[in-house]
Amino acid sequence: MLFACLLVYCAKFVASGLCVAGLVKEKRADYMSDKKEAMSVNKAGEQKLWGGRFTESTDAFVEEFTASVMFDQRLYLQDIQGSMAHCRMLAKVGVLTESERDQILDGLGRIEKEIAAGEFVWSVSREDVHMNIEARLTDLIGTVGKKLHTGRSRNDQVATDIRLYLRAEIDRVLSEIDRLQQGLLDLAEREAGTIMPGFTHLQTAQPVTFGHHMLAWFEMLSRDYERMVDCRKRVNRSPLGAAALAGTTFPIDREYSAQLLGFDAVCENSLDAVSDRDFAIEFTAAASLLMTHLSRFSEELVLWSSAQFDFIDLPDRFCTGSSIMPQKKNPDVPELVRGKVGRVNGHLISLLTLMKSQPLAYNKDNQEDKEPLFDTVDTVLNCLRAYADMMPAVGVKDAVMREAALRGFSTATDLADYLVKQGLPFRDAHEVVGNAVAFALNKGCDLSELTLAELQSFSPEHISENVFAVLTLEGSVQARDHLGGTAPNQVLAAVQRGRNMLQTRGGK
Ligand code: ARG
Repeated sequence: MLFACLLVYCAKFVASGLCVAGLVKEKRADYMSDKKEAMSVNKAGEQKLWGGRFTESTDAFVEEFTASVMFDQRLYLQDIQGSMAHCRMLAKVGVLTESERDQILDGLGRIEKEIAAGEFVWSVSREDVHMNIEARLTDLIGTVGKKLHTGRSRNDQVATDIRLYLRAEIDRVLSEIDRLQQGLLDLAEREAGTIMPGFTHLQTAQPVTFGHHMLAWFEMLSRDYERMVDCRKRVNRSPLGAAALAGTTFPIDREYSAQLLGFDAVCENSLDAVSDRDFAIEFTAAASLLMTHLSRFSEELVLWSSAQFDFIDLPDRFCTGSSIMPQKKNPDVPELVRGKVGRVNGHLISLLTLMKSQPLAYNKDNQEDKEPLFDTVDTVLNCLRAYADMMPAVGVKDAVMREAALRGFSTATDLADYLVKQGLPFRDAHEVVGNAVAFALNKGCDLSELTLAELQSFSPEHISENVFAVLTLEGSVQARDHLGGTAPNQVLAAVQRGRNMLQTRGGK
C-alpha cells in the first residue's frame, strides 16, 4: 500500500515537473520572440556583443552618446597586439587549442590589414574599437572568434591599449625633445661668444652670451626628458588579466602576456589595474611642464623678433604675413606654441577631474580619458617638431644684441665687484656704483664712457685705470668663468657635456 502511494506521488511529481518544464519552455519562447521583435529595431541590424540580458535595443541617441569608436579607433593597432598576446597566452595555458589560436591570430592579422588599407567598416552600434574588432573577427573566422574574449574584459583590454599607445608616443616625444636639444647645442656652440643683454624683470641686468641663453633652454628640456622617461616606467605595466575587476577563473599567465607585449611588469592588483589612469595624468602633467617651457621660449622669440628688440630673424618659412599690412612678418609658430599650452593645461585638469572621486573599479567615466590624452600627444609632438625644425634656422643679429647690451648699464655689477676686490664692502660698493649710474644717466652715457676722473670722484682710493677692463661687455662675460657661468669657454664646455649626455642617454 505504502509502495502504491509512493508510486502515485512520484508519478504526480514527475508529471508536475514535466508540466513546469513545459511552462518554462513556453515562457522562454514568448520571451525570446518578444525580445527578438524588440531587438530587431536595432538600426544597424547588429546584435550587441553584450545583448543577452537586454529586452529592448539601445536608444539611438544613447547608442551614439555612449560610443567611443569615433575616437578610440586610433588604438586599433594596440588593440590587435593586445588581443594577439592574450590569445597566445590562452593557448599556452591550454584554454585555446593551437588550431583555435592560429585561426584567431590569422583573423586578427587580416583585420589589421583591412584597417590599415582603409577598408574596415567602423560601426557606431558596435560601440568601441574593441567590439568592432571582435565582431569583425567572428564575421571573418566564425564561432572560434567568439572564444577570444575568454578570461578578459574590455576593462583590462582598454587599459592595456592605452598603455601600449602611450608608451609608443612617449618614445616619439623623447626623440623630438632630443632633436630640439641637439639643435640648441649647435646654436649654443655657434653663438658661445655672442653677447646680448641678460634680463631680470625684463630690464637690462647683466651681459650674457646667446649660447648661455640657449643652454638654459637646453637644461629645461633635459628635465622634461627625464620626467617623460620616468613616467614611461609607470606606463609600461600590463593590466591584462585583471579582466573586469576581480581577475578570472581561467588559469591565465599574466606575466607571459605582459612579456609578449614588452611590458616591464604587471599592474598587480586587478581592481587598481583596470581603474586607475594616473599614468595618463602623469604624462599630461609632464607634457604641461614641457609646454610651459616651450611657451617661455616662444615668448622670448616673439619679443626678440619684434622691431623693438630685433635680436633675431625667424626664417620666413616659419612666419606668415598680414592680409592688410603689407610690411608684416608675424611669428606665428612661436605664438601658436605659446597658445597651445592652454589646451594641454586644460587636458590635465580634465583628466584630474575625471579621475577624482571615482569608486573602484572601472567606471565608464574613464572613456573620457582618450580625447584629452590624444590631443595632448598630438599637440606636444607638433610643437616639438616645429621647434626642432625652426631653431637651427634662427638668424642671430649679434651686432644689434651687442648694442642693446651696451645700453642699460649692464656692467654696473662688474664695477661693484671691482670695488669689492679693491677692499670696499659690497653694500658700500653698491652705493658708489648707484651714484655713478645716476651721474651717467644725467650725462646720457654708459659707465664705460665716463672719464677716469669722473669715476674716481665716486670712490677716489678704489678706482684706477684698470677699471675700464671690467666695464667692457667682453670683460664682463669672460669674468663669469665658473661651472654654469656665462663665459664663452664655460658655454663651450657645457655644450660638450651636453653632447656627451645626449650620446649616453637612452635610459628609456
Ligand atoms: N570604451 C570603453 C572605454 O574607453 C571600453 C571599456 C568599456 N567597458 C565597459 N565595461 N563598458 O573605457
